Amino acid sequence: MKAIVLEKAGGVENLKIKDIEKPSLKSNEVLVETKAIGINPADWKVRSEEQALKMLIGATENVILGWDVAGVIAEVGNEVTGFKVGDKVFGMINFPGSGKAYAEYVAAPADQLAVLPEGTSFEEAAASTLAALTALQAITDRVKKDDRVLIHAGSGGVGHFAIQIGKSKGAYVLATSSAKNKDFVLSLGADEHIDYRTQKFEEVAADVDFVLDPMGGEVLLNSVKVMKEGGAIVSLAIFEVPADVKELADKVGVTVTPLLVKSNGDDMKTIADLLEAGTVKAHVSKTFSFENMGDVHNEVQSGRTVGKVVVSL
Ligand SMILES: NC(=O)c1ccc[n+]([C@@H]2O[C@H](COP(=O)([O-])OP(=O)(O)OC[C@H]3O[C@@H](n4cnc5c(N)ncnc54)[C@H](OP(=O)(O)O)[C@@H]3O)[C@@H](O)[C@H]2O)c1
Repeated sequence: MKAIVLEKAGGVENLKIKDIEKPSLKSNEVLVETKAIGINPADWKVRSEEQALKMLIGATENVILGWDVAGVIAEVGNEVTGFKVGDKVFGMINFPGSGKAYAEYVAAPADQLAVLPEGTSFEEAAASTLAALTALQAITDRVKKDDRVLIHAGSGGVGHFAIQIGKSKGAYVLATSSAKNKDFVLSLGADEHIDYRTQKFEEVAADVDFVLDPMGGEVLLNSVKVMKEGGAIVSLAIFEVPADVKELADKVGVTVTPLLVKSNGDDMKTIADLLEAGTVKAHVSKTFSFENMGDVHNEVQSGRTVGKVVVSL
């Protein structure tokens, strides 16, 4: 099969298409014939930094990147129940860890997958994995009806799912992006748009119950200033809460929680249900070919992605 192998950390020129053996299956896994792959900022970050590669994947040479896959089951491991050959499935494979999704076939633990909902394309499904799981895992159990919710980077991969999931909980959603993405953000259901380039969100937003922060730094610190007492911030950009953020958060009675998304088949089924019901829709703004993986990395690395970009096989 063809796979894209990262020879070592560095630029996109280190991503090479190679012919390698199909993965062999463990008893709890299925073999997925890949139809589409979702690409995330994590992909270019681990590609370019040896330390990140080692930390997340556990190896630094000749590794296959990628976690987000949608495809068709080609083989089923001995102990797998609930899936059969021919099923269309999607999921985020072995995150944090090595998912090896940049390949024509991917060995995936069955308990990390869900069946594609009727009417969802492979590209939309591949888009609705890491980013959608992150939004779901951040918001479920923290947001309730009528909460005021602030989603930073509402036009990005995580943000565009977070707005929709926040609305599905009955929250009042404020979301930031630049002006060019205002209409997109409002079309997702956001009640208010804040242009972070011309407005200071900390002067516009107030009495917020929940913030989703993918940025860290000043955005995280200033987010504390817009919160109600008892509010919760989930940050995707930190492993530990910085001392200045903790001090201010303690003073105003706000919790700040770092979140690292985790593979989870039950959460994937929740996403499948949301897609099927039309409550959540994946916005795929660009589709690339497998051969052009370097271009996708450059696109995502630009930080200007609208919704998701995916690779189609
Ligand atoms: N911890 C975790 O488990 C986890 C999981 C997923 C993602 N993440 C991290 O979360 C971040 C976001 O991920 P993503 O997939 O949503 O990224 P993305 O799709 O690349 O986000 C791009 C979007 O961010 C917006 N943006 C950029 N700078 C902004 C700012 N200062 N304020 C508001 N919006 C801004 C851009 O809008 P404009 O073009 O309009 O500026 C663009 O639409 C990344 O750093 C990623 O690594 C962490």
